[in-house]
Amino acid sequence: MSPPVPAVELRRLVKRFGALEVLKGVSLAAQEGEVIAILGASGSGKSTLLRCINGLEVPDEGEVLVGGEAIRFKTTRRGRAPADRRQLDRIRASLGFVFQSFNLWSHLTVLENVIEAPVHVQGRKRADAIAEAEALLAKVGIAEKRNHYPAHLSGGQQQRAAIARALAMRPRVLLFDEPTSALDPELVGEVLRVIRALAEEGRTMLLVTHEMGFAREVADRIVFLHQGRVECEGPPAPLFADPPTERFRAFVARFREEERLRGVL
Ligand SMILES: Nc1ncnc2c1ncn2[C@@H]1O[C@H](COP(=O)(O)OP(=O)(O)O)[C@@H](O)[C@H]1O
Ligand SMILES: [Mg+2]
Repeated sequence: MSPPVPAVELRRLVKRFGALEVLKGVSLAAQEGEVIAILGASGSGKSTLLRCINGLEVPDEGEVLVGGEAIRFKTTRRGRAPADRRQLDRIRASLGFVFQSFNLWSHLTVLENVIEAPVHVQGRKRADAIAEAEALLAKVGIAEKRNHYPAHLSGGQQQRAAIARALAMRPRVLLFDEPTSALDPELVGEVLRVIRALAEEGRTMLLVTHEMGFAREVADRIVFLHQGRVECEGPPAPLFADPPTERFRAFVARFREEERLRGVL
């Protein structure tokens, strides 16, 4: 039997911004249903890594595969560029991205935010998209906010709306970039609960987070980035119990202390 095709795979990814090499050959594969938490200090390349997966950045070297399909690049005088916009749009539509800053459209209600892409990008029937959106809003616990504008929601509610919006695309993989970092501490738990429920449903997720306790609890695997390289990785329990490198040990110790002080979860 051939090995299963990973939902997402990165092969020796290199990304530079001018002289700064931000990713230095990162390889990573997420199998279907796997939850990978990506940890690392600020500036270690976590956001750049996620942005390379959904085409917001073009890696200078290496490959990005989604469901076994490699994003095609061409070489131009200014470096690499996507070779096939339609392929990139199609792949991008199979990825749900949740940002630290929510990125909801402020001029649209919560419900309109959630149905926007299904109706206008995927061409689904408006009535069907609304029915699905209402179910998703109920799932993330903000059904009663459907006709509110984002500015009238708390940060935690906005982020849950953003998660519903990502789910409305029926993505194959969910990418979270520090989904709770912009929230007041008392709102973190409500968003983590939604993400935990998605993990328990068997969703494939790459989750960049500083919530160490949460990562340990929900992730199948931890990947620790340091200065653009995978410093260590593995299932959380052994990794946390016996950190394989001094850097990871120090990183964990620092965030544990912060979490203890904040009383997370
Ligand atoms: N568009 C950009 N142009 C120049 N430098 C960038 C750009 N995006 C990120 N960087 C730099 O790349 C490094 C990694 O950034 P980032 O991927 O955002 O790290 P993290 O998410 O782990 O904090 C940082 O030094 C950052 O300043
Ligand atoms: Mg970041």
